[in-house]
Amino acid sequence: MAAPSFSGTSWGCLILVLLLYWAHVCLGVPDPHVRARLMQEEASRRTGGRVLLTESEQKLSERLHKLKEQEIAGPQFPPMMHFFEAQPFIQRSPIFSLLQRMPKGAALHVHDFSLVSVDWLVKNVTYRPYCYICFTKDQSVRFLFSAQQPLPRPQCSTWTLLETLRAKVGNVTDLDNSLIGNLTLFTADPGAAYPSQDMVWKKFEQTFIVTLGLVTYAPVFKEYFYRGLQELYMDNVMYLELRALLPKVTYELDGSMHDRFWSLRTYQEVSRQFVADHPDFLGTRIIFTVHRGLNDSQVKEAVKMAISMQKTYPEVMAGFDLVGREDSGRSLWYFREALSLPVDLGITLPYFFHAGETDLQGTEVDGNLLDALLFNTSRIGHGFALPHHPVAKELSRKMGVAIEICPISNQVLKLVSDLRNHPAAVLMSEGHPLVISSDDPAVFGATGLSYDFYEVFVGIGGMSSNLGTLKELAINSLRYSSLSPQQKEEALALWQKKWDKFVVENSQ
Ligand SMILES: *[C@@H]1O[C@H](CO)[C@@H](O)[C@H](O)[C@H]1NC(C)=O
Ligand SMILES: *[C@@H]1O[C@H](CO)[C@@H](O)[C@H](O)[C@H]1NC(C)=O
Ligand SMILES: *[C@@H]1O[C@H](CO)[C@@H](O)[C@H](O)[C@H]1NC(C)=O
Ligand SMILES: *[C@@H]1O[C@H](CO)[C@@H](O)[C@H](O)[C@H]1NC(C)=O
Ligand SMILES: *[C@@H]1O[C@H](CO)[C@@H](O)[C@H](O)[C@H]1NC(C)=O
Ligand SMILES: [Zn+2]
Repeated sequence: MAAPSFSGTSWGCLILVLLLYWAHVCLGVPDPHVRARLMQEEASRRTGGRVLLTESEQKLSERLHKLKEQEIAGPQFPPMMHFFEAQPFIQRSPIFSLLQRMPKGAALHVHDFSLVSVDWLVKNVTYRPYCYICFTKDQSVRFLFSAQQPLPRPQCSTWTLLETLRAKVGNVTDLDNSLIGNLTLFTADPGAAYPSQDMVWKKFEQTFIVTLGLVTYAPVFKEYFYRGLQELYMDNVMYLELRALLPKVTYELDGSMHDRFWSLRTYQEVSRQFVADHPDFLGTRIIFTVHRGLNDSQVKEAVKMAISMQKTYPEVMAGFDLVGREDSGRSLWYFREALSLPVDLGITLPYFFHAGETDLQGTEVDGNLLDALLFNTSRIGHGFALPHHPVAKELSRKMGVAIEICPISNQVLKLVSDLRNHPAAVLMSEGHPLVISSDDPAVFGATGLSYDFYEVFVGIGGMSSNLGTLKELAINSLRYSSLSPQQKEEALALWQKKWDKFVVENSQ
């Protein structure tokens, strides 16, 4: 008798306690409407967060969303792998093939001698007559085209005709592969080959020296650029702003040389030819670049040269930049006198500075971001360190200075390993002005922009990025280009046509 009554009281108590607890928890649950509003607010701040999608665009976006869910759930998630290992997986990705077909607008950060797949340099260019090779002490090679036996170079073996060498070696494929190995950073085990930033930059700069002998041979220089445009065009890119060294050493078979103006004119002529052959390609503008290892007086000369080029070829000449590893080069502030020359002369020379391509905080080079903005840069190359500089970040947004994000470059050059951790994730979440580019695709074994778009869309953006993100990034590439307002309008109209076609064809 006593037991049930005790038990009844006890149950009653328990229920009362539970009711109170439930009421408490319930009252403590944040208001779902507030929650939804805040989430909406965050979503709308992202890159593409305010893009209104049409019905077909929404369908395509949902399709991409599902594909991305599958990719993330899969056993191999490419953005967390080194690009050299990730590439075959990316090539099999249905998202990647959609991105290849997508009209991506402009490539705004690509360097002149990493435009064309190195296979072509070896399999086509080095098979031409009069191609000489010599071997350096540090296991590298140099190339030169010459009608006669060239004069020996210091630190290099006697020049041998490749034709002769190929006739002598047992296995030509092995030789060709070793030449390809000298022209690219690609290796099966990048972790072992490049244990530090110093090591990877050393090989990186070496590949350019090797490439130079081939691509500064005047006939190759022209063909190389035409093929470079072709690779971009095949990847549905419609316009290029090329960072170009405009070498003063382009040469002919008889050893005669051309000057920088010849290189600039040649780019203009080849680009015009390409546009004539492909009327839906808009052309090329050139950003003249010199190495940041030069001293102030040398950069002064280069700035003067840029001013003179701009005067003579205003249509093709877009501006000026400094290249080479920031961490081991001179800072923008070191070059302040050279860089203020145009303003002192009352001339506008647009700048497109690489800045913040570093993970070392507080160094003199780390000040480049702010200095680039103080020198009124039109865009910033990389801006990898931007999230660490709130004032520079605010200025860049206020001034409408877009950051050129090149994720594969940053990964291969060892600023970040898992691309989900790329600092552009912060910039994308805030809708900072951004464009996507490929920096040195050929040296990284990539081509066009699609690989970098893949890393941004799947890795950096994660499940937050959608078709609106891609649309805004493509539009940005034209909006933040150096084209005139009227050219931009025309470019955007042409892009929109291509985009609509892409959406119709892929939304099912
Ligand atoms: C190299 O490519 C060009 C076209 O770009 C072609 O005309 C030529 O025959 C090729 N040469 C070799 C040796 O493959
Ligand atoms: C050359 O070597 C490669 C492997 O490096 C091999 O696949 C190929 O069959 C060889 N070719 C000849 C002609 O021996
Ligand atoms: C560069 O070419 C030379 C000569 O064929 C070769 O010995 C060397 O291994 C190559 N370097 C790389 C990194 O492939
Ligand atoms: C800059 O470098 C050049 C070439 O190495 C040299 O001739 C010149 O004296 C240097 N100028 C200064 C100011 O250091
Ligand atoms: C940057 O632009 C501002 C405002 O247009 C101008 O006052 C200043 O002189 C420019 N500075 C440089 C270094 O170009
Ligand atoms: Zn670059």
